[in-house]
Amino acid sequence: MKQSHTPLIIGNWKMNPGTLTAALTLFTDTQKAVARLSHVDVVAAPPVVYLSAIARLHKGKKLAIGAQDVYFEKLGAYTGEVGMSMLKSVGVSYVIVGHSEMRARGESDVDVARKVGVVLKEGAVAVLCVGESSRDANGQYLGVVESQIKSALKDIPKSKLGNLVIAYEPVWAIGTGTTPSAHDIHEMKLFIQKIVSDLFGRSTLARVRVLYGGSVTKHNAVSFFEEGEVDGFLVGGASLRASEFTDIVKIAHTYGA
Ligand code: PGA
Repeated sequence: MKQSHTPLIIGNWKMNPGTLTAALTLFTDTQKAVARLSHVDVVAAPPVVYLSAIARLHKGKKLAIGAQDVYFEKLGAYTGEVGMSMLKSVGVSYVIVGHSEMRARGESDVDVARKVGVVLKEGAVAVLCVGESSRDANGQYLGVVESQIKSALKDIPKSKLGNLVIAYEPVWAIGTGTTPSAHDIHEMKLFIQKIVSDLFGRSTLARVRVLYGGSVTKHNAVSFFEEGEVDGFLVGGASLRASEFTDIVKIAHTYGA
């Protein structure tokens, strides 16, 4: 089925690869492989230390550059942090916010909300990650996702929603090889859309892409598009091998065509 949005595939490299040389090779290989796939938006999110060197390879080509985090203050005495204007100045146009691996290290819902705010204010795309740690039989996990979304978006003006992406990433599916069924992913997509629609109105749904992330491979990508009806993927492990990542991007391209 053709998607209503241009599909979006984001590679979250996390804390990989181990050297700048390897990062430049991975970026170049990925960039070459996806260059002609015009019906899909593709992003690589390398570690922040590699961003400016990678941006020099970007030169307006297809593969956009993402960051894995941002700090919500503008400038100042915040040792270790990187602000949105810095990321923008090296060519970053997407920022992942609220990844479960950041939340697990202490990032709060309040931090996430401020980060989403700063990314959208500066005109970049905010990729808001939400997802439960485990699933229970009586549906409490739905409440977890609902409260993560509501708290992250509570101060966001409707006018900025065109730059918002929501990535449903159940924590138990990340890096484990276990995933929800395509049916469960579809149900969650509808649930997320209902929350957005309740907050901002039905007409805004056309502007917010909903991705799935957690052990995505070329083998499960087709059913997640077909039955899950997601608008794309946030890919971790499989984004570290250009050919594997490209296989997923090619699948997305066929749904955007
Ligand atoms: P994974 O990671 O694809 O390795 O499961 C996804 C993510 O954490 O974004």
